Formats: sequence, C-alpha cells, structure tokens
Amino acid sequence: MALGLHHDLPTILREKSDNFTRPFVFKSCFDDEFISLSDVYQVLNNLPSKTLYHKNIRLYLGPGLAPRESVSHYLKPILDGEGIEEWSSRVFGSYPFGLIINNCQLFHDPLSRRIATLCDQIYRLVGFPPGGIQAALFIGNYGYTPFGVHRDRDERFIIHAHLGPGTKTMTLWDPKYFRKTTGSTASFFDPDSISASGTHSEFGPGDMYVLPADFYHIGHTNGLSVGLAIAFVGLSNRQLLSRALELIRYNFRFSINLESEWFPSEKKCLREITASLFKSENYLQSKNMDYKLSDAVIDYQMLLRSNHGFRGAPEEIRINESVPTIVQIKAPFRLYWIKNTRSLRIYARQRIYDLSLSEIRSLGEENLMFEILEHLNSGRPLETARACQIRSVYQLLSSLLQWQVLDPEVGLA
Ligand SMILES: [Fe+2]
Repeated sequence: MALGLHHDLPTILREKSDNFTRPFVFKSCFDDEFISLSDVYQVLNNLPSKTLYHKNIRLYLGPGLAPRESVSHYLKPILDGEGIEEWSSRVFGSYPFGLIINNCQLFHDPLSRRIATLCDQIYRLVGFPPGGIQAALFIGNYGYTPFGVHRDRDERFIIHAHLGPGTKTMTLWDPKYFRKTTGSTASFFDPDSISASGTHSEFGPGDMYVLPADFYHIGHTNGLSVGLAIAFVGLSNRQLLSRALELIRYNFRFSINLESEWFPSEKKCLREITASLFKSENYLQSKNMDYKLSDAVIDYQMLLRSNHGFRGAPEEIRINESVPTIVQIKAPFRLYWIKNTRSLRIYARQRIYDLSLSEIRSLGEENLMFEILEHLNSGRPLETARACQIRSVYQLLSSLLQWQVLDPEVGLA
C-alpha cells in the first residue's frame, strides 16, 4: 500500500460508487501509514493549546450541543499508555458524547499532506472541487448522530475513512421519499421509525465509505468509534461572491455592508449575477479601492488551490535558526503565482506573499526568483546556500518556512 492507501483506491471508489453518486464500502483499503489512532492522539494532545482554532470544535453531550465556553473543559490530552477507550472513560465517564473536529488537519499538520495526497488522486478523476475540501474527525459513542437525519448543504460527496475501534453504520434515504414520509425537509430525530426503508452500510477500521451528495443520512456508532470524513465541497455563485467579499473585508480591514440584493439566488439567470457583480464593483470603486471583486475571486480560488483545497491556513511557526541548508516543499502542496507588470503575487498554503517586481528586477534577482519557485514546485530538495545570498529569496524562504509550506528537516535524518 503506497502511502498507506490501496494502489487503485480512487478508481475503485469512483467506479463502485457510480461516480460518487451511490453509497459504497471499500473494505481494508488503507493502513496506519495513511492515518491511525496515533494521529488522532496527536490531534487530541494539541487541542488544548491551539485555542485559535477552537471555533472548529463541536461537542455533543448526550443529545445536546455543549455550550461553547464549556468545551475547553473536555479537551484533555491522552496520557502515556492510554488508548482511546481509556481516554473516553476518563474524560466523559459512561456519558455518551460526540466530539467533532472540523478542519482537523489544523491541529496536526502531517495529516494535511496525507489527506492532500489522497485528494490529489481524486481530483485527477473528478476535478478540483470549487469549494475545496473539509476534513473532520468524528469521535464518540453517541449512537445515532446527535443532529438527526439530515442532508448536507454544500457537499458534493464525502469519503469517510474509519479508524474504529467500534464500527459505524450509515443509513441513507432518497430525498423524495424522506420528504414524503416525514412531511418536511428539516432534520428528523426518530430514525428508528423510518430505518426499515433506508439503505444501510456498515464499515469498520481500515474501511472507506463513500457518502454521496443529496441523500438524507444518519450515522450510528456501534461502541466508541473514530472516523475521518473528507467532504468535497461545491460552491455556488452566491457563495463565491460572498467569500470574495469576505476576503476583501479581511485583507483591507474594511467594513462592507453585505446587501442581500448583491446575492441573487442560484435560480436567477447569469445576467442578474453579472449585474450584482457590477453593483459590488461600483461600491468598491466608490470607496477608492484599487482591488476589484474580480481580483478577490481570483485570489480566493488561487488561495484554495495553494492549500490543496483546505480552507484554513496552517499555523505560523517560529523559525529559531536561519534558513536550513536544504529545504523541500511539502508535496503535494505547491506554489501558485500571478505575475503582472509591477508585481508578483505568490500563493502559498492559503497565504499571500507579494513582491515588487520592479525592485527585484532592478537588483537583477528576477530570474533567480523564478528559478527558485520552479525548483520548489518540482518537489526536489533545494540547497539554499547560494539562494540565500539574495535578500529577496532569503526573505521568501523564511516566510515559506514560517507558513509550513517548506519542510525544514530534509537531510537531517
Ligand atoms: Fe452529514
């Protein structure tokens, strides 16, 4: 199993799930090299200190969502020699719980590369999902998913890698049948009453499960179970506009009044969406902004691609020493850039590095800069001694190390 994944995993997943439109369980298709409970322990150990990312955590105690301010009380590291079951008993006793960690890769960066490697293979088959991916860990013994039978909103499809120790059962209902039977599109909290009409799939440790989009569904844990769910997310025009505006707000610390008329419903025609774009552009121009909504749309897409679909940038780390003698990009991540007459904008794991092209040109550093960028993207180790004599390259490499784009430990083994 190269990289801990069955060699033909993406093709089999796609064919057997009818292009990710039908549920499918692929038995024993990954091992610990891809993800294991040890990775989950690393995540659990990092939860208490990474407070910046706590908004990604949801905790259900019994059927209810725990208040946000009480969640940190339950974020307890695994002790030496402890397993997931001992940890669960120590932290929650016999009380049923569900700990959901969205963007789990932010709590343990090595997971990012492994998930990205799997997703890279899927993208080659179905294309890059316009809304990126969202990786979440589901840990618990909650029985039925506490938020009831529901339909996911933006997801195209989900791949669930199960880690155990208990198994999980997923039950799906056709949307038409679900609406007719329950009389509503709202979440439904009596799954047993409609269970007989659902499609059930059970999966255990080492199995992957394809959850197709659009079906109403509910999971059920059989004992304590841990699973990694990777959602491939769609993106409507309305959401793209909204995220581009958020990017402008974030970049410029600029308060934008998000008028609802800027966001036509998806059913409206292209002309109305275009009109809303113009309306937004005019508004920005009236504020004398030299950054257009169309720039923000491009930035949004490039940032997402530079992070291989993940939405959150990894934590910035402190580099104690100067740039190491050898560095290497953390493949499959790669750099993207846009060059215009005056500037060079580099996108690196959801962050932007801007360079004045005229400045590096006047210093004769332009060619070397592009040589370095291409070299890093090739995935080959880069000897930094010569490059670091150039100030602009040294500064770029330092930032890329701080942003966890480069691996500083190459050659140390
Ligand atoms: Fe769901």
